[in-house]
Amino acid sequence: MKILAIETSCDDTAISIVDAKGGLTKPVFKVLAHNISSQIEIHQKWGGVVPNLAKREHGINLIPLLLKSIEESSGNSKLVIHNSKIKSKKIKSQEKLKLKIEKILEREKELKELFLTQLLDMPAPKIDAIAVTKGPGLEPALWVGINFAKALSVLWNIPVIPTNHLAGHLYANLLTTGNKLNFPTLALIVSGGHTELILVKDWLKYKTIGQTRDDAVGEAFDKVARILGLPYPGGPEISKLALNFVRHSVTNKVEMPAKLPRPMINSADFDFSFSGLKTAVLYLVQKLKTTDNFNEETKAFIAKDFQQACIDVLLAKTTRAIEKYQPKNLIIGGGVVANLELRRQFTEKIATYQKIKLLIPDQKFSTDNASMIAVASYLQIQNKTLKNTTAIKASGHFPLK
Ligand code: KG4
Ligand code: ZN
Repeated sequence: MKILAIETSCDDTAISIVDAKGGLTKPVFKVLAHNISSQIEIHQKWGGVVPNLAKREHGINLIPLLLKSIEESSGNSKLVIHNSKIKSKKIKSQEKLKLKIEKILEREKELKELFLTQLLDMPAPKIDAIAVTKGPGLEPALWVGINFAKALSVLWNIPVIPTNHLAGHLYANLLTTGNKLNFPTLALIVSGGHTELILVKDWLKYKTIGQTRDDAVGEAFDKVARILGLPYPGGPEISKLALNFVRHSVTNKVEMPAKLPRPMINSADFDFSFSGLKTAVLYLVQKLKTTDNFNEETKAFIAKDFQQACIDVLLAKTTRAIEKYQPKNLIIGGGVVANLELRRQFTEKIATYQKIKLLIPDQKFSTDNASMIAVASYLQIQNKTLKNTTAIKASGHFPLK
Protein backbone atom coordinates (compact mmCIF):
# COMPACT_ATOMS: atom_id res chain seq x y z
CA MET A 1 0.00 0.00 0.00
CA LYS A 2 1.01 3.58 -0.57
CA ILE A 3 1.02 5.72 2.54
CA LEU A 4 1.14 9.49 2.59
CA ALA A 5 2.63 10.48 5.95
CA ILE A 6 2.43 13.85 7.68
CA GLU A 7 4.62 14.89 10.63
CA THR A 8 4.23 18.24 12.40
CA SER A 9 4.94 17.44 16.07
CA CYS A 10 7.63 20.06 16.58
CA ASP A 11 9.53 22.47 14.32
CA ASP A 12 9.97 20.34 11.21
CA THR A 13 7.19 20.11 8.65
CA ALA A 14 7.58 16.74 6.98
CA ILE A 15 5.74 14.81 4.28
CA SER A 16 6.67 11.44 2.84
CA ILE A 17 5.13 8.90 0.52
CA VAL A 18 6.15 5.36 1.34
CA ASP A 19 5.32 2.08 -0.35
CA ALA A 20 4.84 -0.62 2.29
CA LYS A 21 4.33 -4.34 1.93
CA GLY A 22 4.95 -7.70 3.63
CA GLY A 23 2.76 -7.24 6.72
CA LEU A 24 4.28 -8.15 10.08
CA THR A 25 6.00 -11.24 8.70
CA LYS A 26 8.31 -9.43 6.39
CA PRO A 27 7.71 -5.69 6.34
CA VAL A 28 9.51 -3.92 3.51
CA PHE A 29 9.43 -0.20 2.86
CA LYS A 30 10.34 1.90 -0.12
CA VAL A 31 10.51 5.65 0.27
CA LEU A 32 9.00 7.30 -2.82
CA ALA A 33 9.23 10.86 -1.49
CA HIS A 34 10.86 12.24 1.65
CA ASN A 35 10.54 15.97 2.23
CA ILE A 36 11.24 18.14 5.23
CA SER A 37 10.99 21.87 5.67
CA SER A 38 13.02 23.02 8.65
CA GLN A 39 11.96 26.05 10.68
CA ILE A 40 15.29 26.40 12.47
CA GLU A 41 15.96 29.95 11.28
CA ILE A 42 12.60 31.14 12.56
CA HIS A 43 12.98 29.66 16.05
CA GLN A 44 16.72 30.32 16.37
CA LYS A 45 16.33 33.91 17.51
CA TRP A 46 14.08 32.77 20.36
CA GLY A 47 16.57 30.10 21.48
CA GLY A 48 14.00 27.30 21.14
CA VAL A 49 10.75 26.30 19.48
CA VAL A 50 7.83 28.73 19.81
CA PRO A 51 4.65 26.60 19.44
CA ASN A 52 2.47 29.21 17.75
CA LEU A 53 5.17 30.16 15.26
CA ALA A 54 5.64 26.45 14.52
CA LYS A 55 1.88 26.11 13.94
CA ARG A 56 1.83 29.02 11.47
CA GLU A 57 4.85 27.74 9.56
CA HIS A 58 3.41 24.22 9.27
CA GLY A 59 0.29 25.80 7.79
CA ILE A 60 2.38 27.55 5.15
CA ASN A 61 4.71 24.62 4.40
CA LEU A 62 2.38 21.62 4.21
CA ILE A 63 0.86 22.14 0.78
CA PRO A 64 4.08 22.95 -1.12
CA LEU A 65 5.64 19.85 0.51
CA LEU A 66 2.64 17.71 -0.44
CA LEU A 67 2.74 18.85 -4.07
CA LYS A 68 6.49 18.24 -4.24
CA SER A 69 6.10 14.78 -2.71
CA ILE A 70 3.32 13.80 -5.12
CA GLU A 71 5.39 14.96 -8.06
CA GLU A 72 8.49 13.09 -6.88
CA SER A 73 6.67 9.88 -6.16
CA SER A 74 4.93 9.92 -9.54
CA GLY A 75 8.33 10.12 -11.19
CA ASN A 76 9.78 7.40 -9.00
CA SER A 77 7.16 4.75 -9.20
CA LYS A 78 4.49 5.69 -11.68
CA LEU A 79 2.11 6.67 -8.93
CA VAL A 80 -1.03 6.74 -11.03
CA ILE A 81 -3.15 9.79 -10.81
CA HIS A 82 -6.75 8.83 -11.29
CA ASN A 83 -9.58 11.19 -11.97
CA SER A 84 -10.72 13.00 -8.91
CA LYS A 85 -14.07 11.90 -7.60
CA ILE A 86 -14.87 15.54 -7.12
CA LYS A 87 -14.79 16.27 -10.81
CA SER A 88 -17.42 13.74 -11.58
CA LYS A 89 -19.67 14.89 -8.78
CA LYS A 90 -22.36 17.43 -9.19
CA ILE A 91 -21.68 21.05 -8.33
CA LYS A 92 -23.97 20.70 -5.33
CA SER A 93 -21.98 17.94 -3.69
CA GLN A 94 -18.80 19.82 -4.53
CA GLU A 95 -20.12 22.77 -2.56
CA LYS A 96 -20.92 20.46 0.34
CA LEU A 97 -17.42 19.04 0.24
CA LYS A 98 -15.95 22.52 0.26
CA LEU A 99 -18.01 23.50 3.29
CA LYS A 100 -16.93 20.37 5.13
CA ILE A 101 -13.28 21.10 4.44
CA GLU A 102 -13.69 24.73 5.47
CA LYS A 103 -15.11 23.53 8.77
CA ILE A 104 -12.22 21.09 9.36
CA LEU A 105 -9.69 23.81 8.63
CA GLU A 106 -11.49 26.65 10.41
CA ARG A 107 -8.63 27.12 12.90
CA GLU A 108 -5.86 26.81 10.31
CA LYS A 109 -6.00 30.17 8.57
CA GLU A 110 -2.92 29.86 6.32
CA LEU A 111 -3.59 26.25 5.46
CA LYS A 112 -7.27 26.77 4.64
CA GLU A 113 -6.53 29.48 2.07
CA LEU A 114 -3.92 27.36 0.30
CA PHE A 115 -6.03 24.20 0.49
CA LEU A 116 -9.07 25.77 -1.11
CA THR A 117 -7.13 27.41 -3.89
CA GLN A 118 -4.61 24.67 -4.67
CA LEU A 119 -6.02 21.26 -3.75
CA LEU A 120 -9.75 21.31 -4.23
CA ASP A 121 -9.68 20.78 -7.97
CA MET A 122 -6.53 18.74 -8.17
CA PRO A 123 -6.77 15.14 -9.36
CA ALA A 124 -6.47 12.74 -6.44
CA PRO A 125 -3.18 10.82 -6.23
CA LYS A 126 -3.32 7.07 -5.82
CA ILE A 127 -2.73 6.87 -2.10
CA ASP A 128 -4.24 4.17 0.09
CA ALA A 129 -4.02 5.82 3.50
CA ILE A 130 -2.82 8.94 5.26
CA ALA A 131 -0.64 8.55 8.36
CA VAL A 132 -0.41 11.51 10.70
CA THR A 133 1.42 12.10 13.97
CA LYS A 134 -1.12 12.28 16.81
CA GLY A 135 1.52 12.84 19.52
CA PRO A 136 3.56 13.19 21.62
CA GLY A 137 4.60 16.71 20.67
CA LEU A 138 3.50 20.33 20.76
CA GLU A 139 -0.28 20.33 20.53
CA PRO A 140 -0.76 23.48 18.42
CA ALA A 141 1.76 22.06 15.95
CA LEU A 142 0.24 18.56 15.97
CA TRP A 143 -3.24 19.93 15.28
CA VAL A 144 -2.18 21.47 11.95
CA GLY A 145 -0.99 18.11 10.64
CA ILE A 146 -4.06 16.33 11.96
CA ASN A 147 -6.51 18.81 10.46
CA PHE A 148 -4.66 18.68 7.16
CA ALA A 149 -4.89 14.88 7.20
CA LYS A 150 -8.62 15.04 7.95
CA ALA A 151 -9.25 17.50 5.14
CA LEU A 152 -7.33 15.34 2.66
CA SER A 153 -9.20 12.28 3.89
CA VAL A 154 -12.52 13.94 3.13
CA LEU A 155 -11.31 15.28 -0.21
CA TRP A 156 -9.86 11.98 -1.47
CA ASN A 157 -12.08 9.62 0.51
CA ILE A 158 -9.25 7.64 2.11
CA PRO A 159 -8.64 6.67 5.76
CA VAL A 160 -6.37 8.44 8.26
CA ILE A 161 -4.10 6.52 10.66
CA PRO A 162 -3.27 8.41 13.86
CA THR A 163 0.33 7.47 14.65
CA ASN A 164 2.68 7.67 17.62
CA HIS A 165 5.79 9.77 17.08
CA LEU A 166 7.93 7.60 19.37
CA ALA A 167 6.89 4.48 17.47
CA GLY A 168 8.14 6.32 14.39
CA HIS A 169 11.58 6.83 15.94
CA LEU A 170 11.58 3.24 17.15
CA TYR A 171 10.86 1.67 13.75
CA ALA A 172 12.77 4.22 11.60
CA ASN A 173 15.63 1.74 11.22
CA LEU A 174 13.35 -0.51 9.11
CA LEU A 175 13.71 2.05 6.32
CA THR A 176 17.24 0.79 5.80
CA THR A 177 17.34 -2.14 3.40
CA GLY A 178 18.07 -5.46 5.05
CA ASN A 179 17.23 -4.40 8.61
CA LYS A 180 14.99 -6.95 10.30
CA LEU A 181 13.57 -7.00 13.80
CA ASN A 182 13.82 -9.96 16.13
CA PHE A 183 12.08 -10.00 19.50
CA PRO A 184 12.58 -9.25 22.27
CA THR A 185 14.15 -5.99 21.19
CA LEU A 186 15.46 -3.23 23.39
CA ALA A 187 15.03 0.34 22.16
CA LEU A 188 16.74 3.50 23.34
CA ILE A 189 14.88 6.57 22.10
CA VAL A 190 16.79 9.81 22.55
CA SER A 191 15.32 13.03 21.21
CA GLY A 192 14.52 16.59 22.16
CA GLY A 193 11.50 15.46 24.16
CA HIS A 194 12.33 11.90 25.21
CA THR A 195 14.96 9.67 26.74
CA GLU A 196 13.46 6.21 27.11
CA LEU A 197 14.54 2.62 27.34
CA ILE A 198 11.76 0.46 25.99
CA LEU A 199 11.51 -3.30 25.94
CA VAL A 200 9.66 -4.38 22.78
CA LYS A 201 8.39 -7.92 23.34
CA ASP A 202 6.71 -8.22 19.96
CA TRP A 203 5.38 -5.89 17.27
CA LEU A 204 3.66 -2.99 19.06
CA LYS A 205 4.10 -4.55 22.53
CA TYR A 206 6.02 -2.05 24.60
CA LYS A 207 7.18 -1.82 28.18
CA THR A 208 9.01 1.33 29.22
CA ILE A 209 11.73 0.19 31.62
CA GLY A 210 13.47 3.52 32.12
CA GLN A 211 13.11 7.19 31.30
CA THR A 212 14.44 10.61 32.17
CA ARG A 213 13.33 12.07 35.46
CA ASP A 214 13.80 15.63 34.23
CA ASP A 215 15.29 16.91 30.94
CA ALA A 216 15.50 14.77 27.81
CA VAL A 217 19.02 14.28 26.52
CA GLY A 218 18.38 16.34 23.34
CA GLU A 219 16.93 19.09 25.52
CA ALA A 220 20.16 19.02 27.58
CA PHE A 221 22.20 19.41 24.37
CA ASP A 222 20.04 22.39 23.44
CA LYS A 223 20.30 24.02 26.89
CA VAL A 224 24.05 23.44 27.20
CA ALA A 225 24.54 24.90 23.72
CA ARG A 226 22.74 28.02 24.87
CA ILE A 227 24.97 28.29 27.96
CA LEU A 228 28.00 28.01 25.67
CA GLY A 229 26.61 30.73 23.40
CA LEU A 230 25.80 28.40 20.52
CA PRO A 231 22.64 28.60 18.37
CA TYR A 232 19.57 26.32 18.51
CA PRO A 233 19.39 23.35 17.96
CA GLY A 234 22.33 22.55 20.18
CA GLY A 235 23.04 18.93 19.28
CA PRO A 236 24.77 19.46 15.93
CA GLU A 237 26.63 22.55 17.28
CA ILE A 238 27.98 20.73 20.32
CA SER A 239 29.14 17.76 18.30
CA LYS A 240 30.96 20.09 15.87
CA LEU A 241 32.67 21.89 18.76
CA ALA A 242 33.60 18.58 20.42
CA LEU A 243 35.41 17.57 17.25
CA ASN A 244 37.30 20.89 17.38
CA PHE A 245 38.65 20.07 20.81
CA VAL A 246 40.42 16.99 19.49
CA ARG A 247 42.23 19.11 16.92
CA HIS A 248 43.21 21.91 19.33
CA SER A 249 44.31 19.61 22.11
CA VAL A 250 47.01 18.13 19.91
CA THR A 251 48.82 21.44 19.62
CA ASN A 252 47.93 23.27 22.85
CA LYS A 253 48.53 22.32 26.43
CA VAL A 254 46.11 24.61 28.25
CA GLU A 255 44.95 23.24 31.60
CA MET A 256 41.39 21.99 31.37
CA PRO A 257 38.66 22.03 34.03
CA ALA A 258 37.73 18.86 35.95
CA LYS A 259 35.42 16.38 34.23
CA LEU A 260 31.67 16.84 34.38
CA PRO A 261 29.47 14.49 36.44
CA ARG A 262 27.82 11.38 34.92
CA PRO A 263 24.42 11.58 36.66
CA MET A 264 22.81 8.32 37.84
CA ILE A 265 25.43 6.24 36.04
CA ASN A 266 25.65 3.80 38.93
CA SER A 267 22.01 3.73 40.02
CA ALA A 268 20.46 0.28 39.88
CA ASP A 269 17.44 1.34 37.77
CA PHE A 270 17.19 2.28 34.09
CA ASP A 271 16.25 5.92 34.64
CA PHE A 272 18.18 8.99 33.56
CA SER A 273 18.65 12.57 34.72
CA PHE A 274 20.25 15.30 32.64
CA SER A 275 19.19 18.48 34.40
CA GLY A 276 22.05 18.29 36.97
CA LEU A 277 24.56 17.84 34.17
CA LYS A 278 23.30 20.99 32.50
CA THR A 279 23.52 22.88 35.82
CA ALA A 280 27.08 21.61 36.30
CA VAL A 281 27.95 23.13 32.90
CA LEU A 282 26.28 26.40 33.90
CA TYR A 283 28.31 26.67 37.14
CA LEU A 284 31.51 25.71 35.38
CA VAL A 285 31.02 28.35 32.68
CA GLN A 286 30.25 30.99 35.33
CA LYS A 287 33.43 30.07 37.20
CA LEU A 288 35.56 30.10 34.05
CA LYS A 289 34.17 33.50 33.12
CA THR A 290 35.05 35.04 36.50
CA THR A 291 38.64 33.79 36.22
CA ASP A 292 38.86 34.81 32.56
CA ASN A 293 39.33 31.23 31.45
CA PHE A 294 36.25 30.89 29.23
CA ASN A 295 37.78 30.69 25.78
CA GLU A 296 37.45 28.67 22.58
CA GLU A 297 39.56 25.92 24.07
CA THR A 298 37.71 25.46 27.36
CA LYS A 299 34.42 25.81 25.49
CA ALA A 300 35.35 22.97 23.15
CA PHE A 301 36.52 20.91 26.12
CA ILE A 302 33.13 21.35 27.81
CA ALA A 303 31.29 20.44 24.58
CA LYS A 304 33.33 17.27 24.25
CA ASP A 305 33.07 16.25 27.89
CA PHE A 306 29.34 17.03 28.04
CA GLN A 307 28.75 14.92 24.92
CA GLN A 308 30.84 12.12 26.42
CA ALA A 309 28.98 12.34 29.76
CA CYS A 310 25.69 11.81 27.87
CA ILE A 311 27.10 8.90 25.88
CA ASP A 312 28.62 7.31 29.02
CA VAL A 313 25.32 7.38 30.90
CA LEU A 314 23.24 6.19 27.92
CA LEU A 315 25.66 3.35 27.23
CA ALA A 316 25.90 2.29 30.88
CA LYS A 317 22.13 2.08 31.33
CA THR A 318 21.58 0.41 27.97
CA THR A 319 24.20 -2.28 28.56
CA ARG A 320 22.75 -2.94 32.01
CA ALA A 321 19.32 -3.43 30.42
CA ILE A 322 20.87 -5.72 27.77
CA GLU A 323 22.32 -7.90 30.49
CA LYS A 324 19.01 -8.13 32.28
CA TYR A 325 16.67 -8.65 29.30
CA GLN A 326 18.96 -10.39 26.79
CA PRO A 327 17.36 -8.83 23.69
CA LYS A 328 18.11 -9.99 20.16
CA ASN A 329 18.29 -6.45 18.79
CA LEU A 330 19.18 -3.08 20.19
CA ILE A 331 17.49 -0.19 18.43
CA ILE A 332 18.73 3.34 18.95
CA GLY A 333 16.55 6.09 17.51
CA GLY A 334 15.58 9.76 17.82
CA GLY A 335 17.26 13.04 16.90
CA VAL A 336 20.25 12.58 19.21
CA VAL A 337 21.19 9.45 17.25
CA ALA A 338 22.25 11.84 14.47
CA ASN A 339 25.31 12.32 16.72
CA LEU A 340 28.19 10.55 14.98
CA GLU A 341 30.24 10.01 18.13
CA LEU A 342 27.27 8.38 19.86
CA ARG A 343 26.67 6.14 16.83
CA ARG A 344 30.36 5.17 16.77
CA GLN A 345 30.58 4.33 20.46
CA PHE A 346 27.33 2.34 20.49
CA THR A 347 28.43 0.42 17.40
CA GLU A 348 31.77 -0.40 19.00
CA LYS A 349 30.25 -1.48 22.31
CA ILE A 350 27.41 -3.57 20.90
CA ALA A 351 29.83 -5.38 18.60
CA THR A 352 31.26 -6.97 21.76
CA TYR A 353 27.94 -8.79 22.32
CA GLN A 354 27.84 -11.70 19.95
CA LYS A 355 24.11 -12.33 20.11
CA ILE A 356 22.83 -8.79 19.61
CA LYS A 357 22.44 -6.86 16.39
CA LEU A 358 22.39 -3.08 16.64
CA LEU A 359 19.86 -1.31 14.42
CA ILE A 360 20.45 2.40 13.77
CA PRO A 361 18.39 4.50 11.36
CA ASP A 362 20.23 6.38 8.61
CA GLN A 363 21.04 9.90 9.75
CA LYS A 364 18.22 11.42 7.65
CA PHE A 365 15.70 9.12 9.36
CA SER A 366 17.06 9.82 12.89
CA THR A 367 15.78 13.37 13.29
CA ASP A 368 12.09 14.11 12.80
CA ASN A 369 10.73 13.01 9.42
CA ALA A 370 7.52 11.59 7.97
CA SER A 371 8.89 8.36 6.45
CA MET A 372 9.23 6.92 9.97
CA ILE A 373 5.59 7.83 10.63
CA ALA A 374 4.55 5.89 7.53
CA VAL A 375 6.47 2.84 8.79
CA ALA A 376 4.92 2.96 12.28
CA SER A 377 1.43 3.47 10.85
CA TYR A 378 1.78 0.48 8.52
CA LEU A 379 2.81 -1.85 11.35
CA GLN A 380 0.02 -0.49 13.52
CA ILE A 381 -2.80 -1.19 11.06
CA GLN A 382 -1.96 -4.83 10.34
CA ASN A 383 -4.91 -7.08 11.20
CA LYS A 384 -7.13 -4.04 11.58
CA THR A 385 -9.89 -2.64 9.43
CA LEU A 386 -9.31 0.93 8.42
CA LYS A 387 -12.16 3.35 8.81
CA ASN A 388 -12.57 6.87 7.52
CA THR A 389 -12.83 9.05 10.57
CA THR A 390 -12.45 12.69 11.37
CA ALA A 391 -12.50 12.10 15.13
CA ILE A 392 -8.75 12.30 15.74
CA LYS A 393 -7.34 14.53 18.48
CA ALA A 394 -3.81 15.76 19.08
CA SER A 395 -2.22 14.35 22.22
CA GLY A 396 0.80 16.17 23.63
CA HIS A 397 1.71 13.24 25.89
CA PHE A 398 0.44 10.34 23.78
CA PRO A 399 1.91 7.24 25.48
CA LEU A 400 3.49 4.41 23.55
CA LYS A 401 1.37 1.35 24.19
O1 KG4 B 1 13.83 13.56 17.20
P1 KG4 B 1 14.04 15.01 17.03
O2 KG4 B 1 14.34 15.53 15.66
O3 KG4 B 1 12.83 15.82 17.58
C1 KG4 B 1 12.14 15.42 18.74
O4 KG4 B 1 11.30 14.50 18.63
O5 KG4 B 1 12.49 15.98 19.81
O6 KG4 B 1 15.23 15.41 18.01
C2 KG4 B 1 15.68 16.72 18.11
C3 KG4 B 1 16.80 16.76 19.13
C4 KG4 B 1 17.27 18.15 19.46
O7 KG4 B 1 17.32 18.31 20.86
C5 KG4 B 1 18.65 18.23 18.83
O8 KG4 B 1 19.55 19.08 19.52
C6 KG4 B 1 19.09 16.79 18.91
O9 KG4 B 1 17.94 16.04 18.63
N1 KG4 B 1 20.15 16.51 17.95
C7 KG4 B 1 21.38 16.12 18.30
C8 KG4 B 1 22.13 16.04 17.10
N2 KG4 B 1 21.30 16.37 16.05
C9 KG4 B 1 20.09 16.65 16.60
N3 KG4 B 1 21.91 15.85 19.50
C10 KG4 B 1 23.20 15.51 19.55
N4 KG4 B 1 23.98 15.43 18.45
C11 KG4 B 1 23.50 15.68 17.22
N5 KG4 B 1 24.28 15.60 16.15
ZN1 ZN C 1 11.22 13.22 17.26
